Amino acid sequence: MKSLEKQLEEMYDRLGVSEKNQGSINTYLSMLRLKDQATYEHSIRVGLLGVGVAEYADLDKKAMFFAGTLHDIGKIMIRPEVLKKSGKYTKKDIREMQQHPKYGYRLLSGVHDFSAEVALRHHKYQSMSYPKKNYKPKVHFSKDTMINLDLHAKMLAIVDFYDAINTRDNQKFGKKLSKEEAKRVLTKTYSEHKDLIEELYLNQVF
Ligand SMILES: [Fe+2]
Ligand SMILES: [Fe+2]
Repeated sequence: MKSLEKQLEEMYDRLGVSEKNQGSINTYLSMLRLKDQATYEHSIRVGLLGVGVAEYADLDKKAMFFAGTLHDIGKIMIRPEVLKKSGKYTKKDIREMQQHPKYGYRLLSGVHDFSAEVALRHHKYQSMSYPKKNYKPKVHFSKDTMINLDLHAKMLAIVDFYDAINTRDNQKFGKKLSKEEAKRVLTKTYSEHKDLIEELYLNQVF
């Protein structure tokens, strides 16, 4: 198995990501790595998987890749004792953790505007659904981009959830699920995208 860094490099080449954007993504990721190795690795995996999903969901590969690698960047603002906690979260911990989409938005705005909007929304389509407020983008996006924004955020929520249930350090399940169990949970949670999820498993994206 190739290292995540190698896979990231190859994806930069494959998608023709500019040197400037490579530098920018690498800088964000290295900040995350300093804070928490697990979130850093999760972010790369979500970016890479995002490209696979984009291929089958007919979305912009580069947009999914950028938004995927950067979606949890706001976690660099969360205290390490909360971020790395393996036990049960207190209400206070949850409140703090739930700030990360907003922090991510602030960190990415003006640099990667589309990714900033996706980062803000990536938990909207998950069970706890936050932030509760619906934010209007500060930057003007075309109508098509606006539709795409929600779709990218939703697809990324699926990838994010997939990665969480397939890693050992997730809070909800407390253990790594088998491939079949993970598929069942994913299909049940996102039943409206059942066919897409089936296709992703069939084609070994998942
Ligand atoms: Fe997140
Ligand atoms: Fe995440």
